[in-house]
Amino acid sequence: MHFDAPSPFVQGPLLQSIVDDLAEKGWSQQDAFLPDALIAQLATECRARDAAGKLASAAIGRGEGQAVREGIRGDRIQWLEPGQSEACDLYLGALDALRQQINRSLYLGLEDFEGHFALYPPGAFYQKHLDRFRDDDRRALSAVFYLNRDWPVAQGGELRMYLSDERTLDLSPLAGRLVVFLSGEFPHEVLPASHERLSLTGWFRRRG
Ligand code: OGA
Ligand code: MN
Repeated sequence: MHFDAPSPFVQGPLLQSIVDDLAEKGWSQQDAFLPDALIAQLATECRARDAAGKLASAAIGRGEGQAVREGIRGDRIQWLEPGQSEACDLYLGALDALRQQINRSLYLGLEDFEGHFALYPPGAFYQKHLDRFRDDDRRALSAVFYLNRDWPVAQGGELRMYLSDERTLDLSPLAGRLVVFLSGEFPHEVLPASHERLSLTGWFRRRG
């Protein structure tokens, strides 16, 4: 989805600091990416969709090899479509503003964005993986936006990133935090949490 008007929330300097991080190290963490009121709406919508049975167990792999494997990945998801709700459209608009800023500065040729709500029930996790399929390298950049207010460190659920020099980085899934990284460069995993963990996860894709 491409938006003609600039996003009302994300301003040039915020987007540019993500671009600068990506150019320098291939990943970026941005707290307070969107206003609290919008985050609350997105969290409410995620829970409502789950209560209505619209989130489904996430699969791994693609095509005929696709399968649900809770020993690898235990979240429930629903893909976003434009026009489903104002909150989701505002989110998609903010990410489209980011996509355009990245294309202006880094020439990654990002063409579109695909994303979904994700709900990890207590105890669920996603084992170490790369966000890229062996037979499809369209996913260039991963973007995860967290919706969890009041999330003490003791609740777990960190995104663990494996940085290029064997270092790891654990990021709590705090409301308002956006993490962006090159999909083909950084293996990562989701550690189990003691509480329900909500996010919007997606990918900027290049032309096929
Ligand atoms: C994914 C993923 C990370 C997170 O869905 O591919 O790695 O922190 N999510 O939710
Ligand atoms: Mn991933």
